[in-house]
Amino acid sequence: MIDIHSHLLPGVDDGVQTEDESRELLQEYADAGFSHIVCTPHLHDPYVETKIPKIRGAYQWFSAEAEKFGITTFLGSELYMSPDPGKSIPFLGRFQLIETNTKTEPMYLLDEVFKLQMQGLTIIMAHIERFEWFSLDSQISNRLKEMGVLFQVNIGMVSSGKVQKYMEKDWVDFISSDNHGKRRSSIDFALWKQYEAINKRSMSLLGL
Ligand SMILES: [Fe+2]
Repeated sequence: MIDIHSHLLPGVDDGVQTEDESRELLQEYADAGFSHIVCTPHLHDPYVETKIPKIRGAYQWFSAEAEKFGITTFLGSELYMSPDPGKSIPFLGRFQLIETNTKTEPMYLLDEVFKLQMQGLTIIMAHIERFEWFSLDSQISNRLKEMGVLFQVNIGMVSSGKVQKYMEKDWVDFISSDNHGKRRSSIDFALWKQYEAINKRSMSLLGL
C-alpha cells in the first residue's frame, strides 16, 4: 500500500508539528501494512505557511525513522497552481502533485499544467472531490484527463457521493490520506485497504 499525499514532516507546514507525532503515525501506517509514503509538504499555497528551508532536513529525519518501520519514503510536494507556480519538488523525479483554487475554475490551469508537462513531469491533481469547478461533465476536468493528468481522492471522502461517482467512471488513480496529523483527522486504514485494485494501479503508474 502506498500513500502519495501526506503532511507528515514535523514542523514544516500545517501538518504534523512534532517528531513524536510523526513517529506515532508511522506506527499506524506500519500496522496497516503500508510499504511506501510520499511526503508532500505544501508549496506556494497562499493560505499555508511552509518553512521551505526546513523541508530537506525534516525529510532526512523522517525517512530514516520510516526505515525503522520498514517503510520506504519519497520526498515530493503539493504545488499550489497559480499563474506563476514557481519551483516544485516532484517525487521519483517526475511526479508532481498539484492543487489550486477550490471555488473558481482557474483559467490559467491548463496552460500551467502543460508547461509542467513540457518539463517532463507527470501531473497528479490532488483531492479532485474538493474542487467545486471539477466534475465528470465539466470541460476543464475532461481536458485535464485527456492531457494525461492523474487524479487523486482523499480516503476521508471515499464513502461520500463526491468520490463514488469518480470511482464508477474509473477516474481515480490514487487514494491518499492528505494526512495532516491527528488534530485534523484520523485515517480509516481499514476502509482504505478495501481498495486494493486502485492501489495496484497506483503502484504500476508510479513504476513501483
Ligand atoms: Fe495536502
